[in-house]
Amino acid sequence: MERCFVAQQFHDNYERKFYYLRLSVTDVCNFKCTYCLPDGYKPSGSRNSSFLTLPEIKRVVSAFAASGTSKVRITGGEPSLRKDFTDIIATTAQTSGIEKVATTTNGYRMEKHVGEWREAGLTHINVSVDSLDPRMFHQITGQNRFHQVMAGIDRAFEVGYEQVKVNVVLMKNLNYQELPRFLDWIKHRSIQLRFIELMQTGEMDDLFQNHHVSGTSIRNHLIANGWLLKAKEKNDGPAQVYVHPDYQGEIGLIMPYEKHFCETCNRLRISALGKLHLCLFGEEGVELRDLLQTEDQQPELIARIQAHLRTKSVSHFLHDGHTGMTPHLASIGG
Ligand code: 5AD
Ligand code: SF4
Repeated sequence: MERCFVAQQFHDNYERKFYYLRLSVTDVCNFKCTYCLPDGYKPSGSRNSSFLTLPEIKRVVSAFAASGTSKVRITGGEPSLRKDFTDIIATTAQTSGIEKVATTTNGYRMEKHVGEWREAGLTHINVSVDSLDPRMFHQITGQNRFHQVMAGIDRAFEVGYEQVKVNVVLMKNLNYQELPRFLDWIKHRSIQLRFIELMQTGEMDDLFQNHHVSGTSIRNHLIANGWLLKAKEKNDGPAQVYVHPDYQGEIGLIMPYEKHFCETCNRLRISALGKLHLCLFGEEGVELRDLLQTEDQQPELIARIQAHLRTKSVSHFLHDGHTGMTPHLASIGG
């Protein structure tokens, strides 16, 4: 659906249009996922660098909405650690033009708060569950909270979500062999399980060498067992989604090392400190915060974003061994 009130839709030089904003609201996280923050969160930079405030969030979301964005994902770090998380959801949901408000959470606060989040306008939830074995879950995340996270997922269904998306970062010798168990789990649950290939980040040393496994073998297994690739809809991102007549759940495969991964890129990112990032990998970001201080800066803000988009690269070139310089994904909102 074309939206005629949009003055100019954010777009790049490769005819990609951007409908989808991933907005990080904090770098802080209370988990220590081996692939992200193995030593836990450590504040970086100067002490007085604070995360975007609610009014700044409102302004950035309004500018994106005015330029064609219809979906916002609130990320982190762990976004629900912000005391004003529910207000952030409400502010985003109330912005004219925003139809979908999603979050990615580690699930720690979900059981208690998901009802409140839904009431505030949260339309979609992604939660990370890297293992269905509580001990392995603990080993991967550094938190012995498997049952709490599972209770959070149950609660999400109780308060009215029809589907919950669950992220699993694929790792050889850790959770890869749990595939049958994961498939069983979604047989009668409306869960979209998203297997994400481990991505190499700047601070990662041996983990990638020891545990990276391509999603290709999962894809082969699915196809051999009657799973079918679902056709993409207009605003779908790079996940390949598979469905099966005997399963209520779906499988999403996110394989960033595949050659054509970037062609369907439809997202832009804002870091918790207010920088625009065109890609997860390999660039420093453009400062926007100076233009988030009053409402009447909006035209200038939009112009700065659009000018920068002209420089967006066609691909991240990860398949050529380029890792970029993102230290870990908590710093830029996965
Ligand atoms: N590789 C792949 N996915 C990652 N995430 C974070 N770090 C990585 C990485 N190195 C994703 C996980 C998690 C979400 C918050 O970010 O899917 O669920
Ligand atoms: Fe926290 Fe998410 Fe990073 Fe895990 S992946 S440490 S939950 S920010």
